[in-house]
Amino acid sequence: MFIRWRYLVAAAIAAPLLGLVLAWSGLVGIGAASGHWPITDWFLHWSMRSSTRTAALGISVPPLDNPQMLPMAAGHFEQGCAMCHGSPAAPRSAVVFGMLPVPPDLKPRVPIWSDAELFQIVQHGVRFTGMPAWPSQQREDEVWAMVAFLRKLPGMTASEYRQLAGLAAPLRPGMSAALDCNACHAENRLTGESLIPSLAGQSEAYLRASLMAYLKGERQSGIMQTAVNGLNANDVAGLAARFTGERQRAGAPAPVNPRGADVAAGQALARSGRPEDRIPACLSCHEREDGNPLYPRLFGQSAPYLAGQLRLFRDGERGGTRFHHLMVRAADNLTDADIDNLAAYFAAGRDADR
Ligand code: HEC
Ligand code: HEC
Ligand code: HEC
Repeated sequence: MFIRWRYLVAAAIAAPLLGLVLAWSGLVGIGAASGHWPITDWFLHWSMRSSTRTAALGISVPPLDNPQMLPMAAGHFEQGCAMCHGSPAAPRSAVVFGMLPVPPDLKPRVPIWSDAELFQIVQHGVRFTGMPAWPSQQREDEVWAMVAFLRKLPGMTASEYRQLAGLAAPLRPGMSAALDCNACHAENRLTGESLIPSLAGQSEAYLRASLMAYLKGERQSGIMQTAVNGLNANDVAGLAARFTGERQRAGAPAPVNPRGADVAAGQALARSGRPEDRIPACLSCHEREDGNPLYPRLFGQSAPYLAGQLRLFRDGERGGTRFHHLMVRAADNLTDADIDNLAAYFAAGRDADR
């Protein structure tokens, strides 16, 4: 008995050493071309499934039925995912078939995962596979938009996809369109319900400073950080100059007020603030003729975008320009009802101010 134990201990010490020696010898191939042994392949997928399932247990799923989640997610899919996974508009490029594992066509894969599991995979990526994590880890709303989009992916036609992603022309296989900013921001693609902001009417200074904030990671958005990836300060200045001239869409549809928010209460709060809760008057900074050009225009912006940004500020998840701390302080004590009322008031625009 005693001897058996000694063997066991010796084996426990020798096995890792042998492994080290084997790795050092260089005899273990790390080339991707020959693929994994079937047992390795099975083991890797099994551990990936188990790990994803366990991690997803603690995730609660928000409502995913807002169709406004789809355009920004589709645009981002085209910029950040299609080069590996292909899309309804174009198959995977030949290059990715040399990867190990090969990034799967997602159509048959999406249905096997729950919403929380998809969130887990897209937010955190998959180690050792090339599947990247979401570019910004601080906020969850964008990843949930992507989950909503992935759910629709299996049944999506090429033309529906192109429409959602704002792609003009059919793509060559494996080519991802150099997405224009207008794929997402074109004024004629936006409505009063959009989650994508309108850039029209913002000052050049605010546009430039915001783009630089995304570029430097000082404002978190996986979608926008991907869109500006690779640009430099000159490119950014050019884009800011180009978009500052844009006009807000003429004859825009009336702003929607889906939550039945109280526009008058929003107006009162915007004008006077609420000193007992240390909420300042929004209009002391915003929408002033003589205002700082780094304070953005809010009138006419969609209510869902405004409300989303206010929640991010309040929850400490919205960075921005060098003045963003002013806004963090202003949003600190807003209630959910305040946010809906303020968003409805600012979306209704100057008309509500008469
Ligand atoms: C550099 C290539 C690459 C990019 C870019 C990429 N992925 Fe992946 N993705 C992979 C690989 C490889 C796997 C397989 C992982 C595995 O087998 O464990 C994968 C797996 C997945 C899965 C799980 C599918 C399954 O059943 O194995 C989903 C869902 C997914 N990716 C979504 C996305 C989304 C959404 C994006 C864009 C935000 C994206 N991927 C970007 C390479 C990529
Ligand atoms: C895939 C869709 C998509 C593309 C492409 C895209 N954007 Fe955006 N953009 C968004 C979304 C979504 C937001 C809101 C992000 C956030 O919450 O911070 C945004 C925010 C912005 C903002 C901040 C606006 C504000 O009111 O604070 C600017 C400026 C901007 N984008 C400019 C651009 C420019 C310039 C390009 C082209 C280089 C571009 N975007 C490409 C979706 C996109
Ligand atoms: C002291 C000045 C100040 C006050 C007061 C103020 N803001 Fe702001 N607000 C800012 C600045 C500066 C930014 C730009 C933050 C950045 O991106 O750097 C901003 C940004 C915003 C944004 C984001 C707009 C976009 O396009 O992304 C919203 C929404 C907003 N403010 C709403 C409000 C509301 C509602 C109030 C009143 C409760 C308010 N602000 C009070 C200075 C102020």
